[in-house]
Amino acid sequence: MPREQIEDVLSTAASMREVGRRKIKKVPTLRGRLVVTLFFENSTRTRTSFELAAKRLSADTLSFSVSTSSTAKGESLMDTARNIHAMSPDAIIIRHACAGAPHLLARSFPFSVINAGDGINEHPSQALLDMLTMRDHWGSLEGRTVAIVGDVQHSRVARSNIHGLTTMGAKVLVAGPGTMCRRELAGLPVERRHTIDDVVAEADAVMMLRIQRERLGKAVLPSAREYAAFYGLDLARLRRARPDVLVMHPGPINRGVEIGADVADGERSVILDQVTNGIAVRMALLFLLLGGREGEADVGA
Ligand code: NCD
Repeated sequence: MPREQIEDVLSTAASMREVGRRKIKKVPTLRGRLVVTLFFENSTRTRTSFELAAKRLSADTLSFSVSTSSTAKGESLMDTARNIHAMSPDAIIIRHACAGAPHLLARSFPFSVINAGDGINEHPSQALLDMLTMRDHWGSLEGRTVAIVGDVQHSRVARSNIHGLTTMGAKVLVAGPGTMCRRELAGLPVERRHTIDDVVAEADAVMMLRIQRERLGKAVLPSAREYAAFYGLDLARLRRARPDVLVMHPGPINRGVEIGADVADGERSVILDQVTNGIAVRMALLFLLLGGREGEADVGA
């Protein structure tokens, strides 16, 4: 996404957030539109916040649960999509283990497609909500330094944040064990450092990542204790960071592994703000894709 488009989403999201603070958290903007969620991988926050976002804009929502749908009977992704297409959706929100699955649908069907995470590739709405959370604290991302720590290699959250943050003028530092933060990452616009302490000291925000066990296959995994000792963010490490550093995590968190409980619940943590901002960003994405125009957000009561 080019910079202007990211800015458009973030400022639309900031105005959408106001709807969530009202007693009646609903506006008629997308009344009569159909938004379908199609999740082939587990999700807690992403799916619920997309559904909530659609509902707050008065769209109808339909959620295909892959474990109870015909995919479990061998139906292909394209056939599932053809059947959903026959129900005239306006947008499909898809999460899939294969990189490129959302692009395949976007190329093949007329409805809007939102990538809610495709394998190790990208998770754009997560990066947008992360950027909104940082922008709330800093005003602008320009010139800021963001550290991404842990399993950068297999993290779609990291990849989307690296693209988004650098497009917005921020610097991205990465650190993690050799198998999870390989040298080829150098192909991305990041600076790779050896230890977590090297990046924490410099960062305006530290983004901790879960080890993507489901994507690691037989790769050598350190024990949770060893991992926490070398790459976990605990209070002792956080004391060496800037006093106003933001601690972030896309969730689900593994307390005591990549992040200490006292850090996750501590005063520098914005982890739950990320969740709240997720609804606003996803409202903005649906609004902008389904016919909204910049500056026209009809969020009147
Ligand atoms: C992330 C994901 O699914 O990529 N979670 C999320 O959407 N908030 C990160 C993860 O699973 O570790």
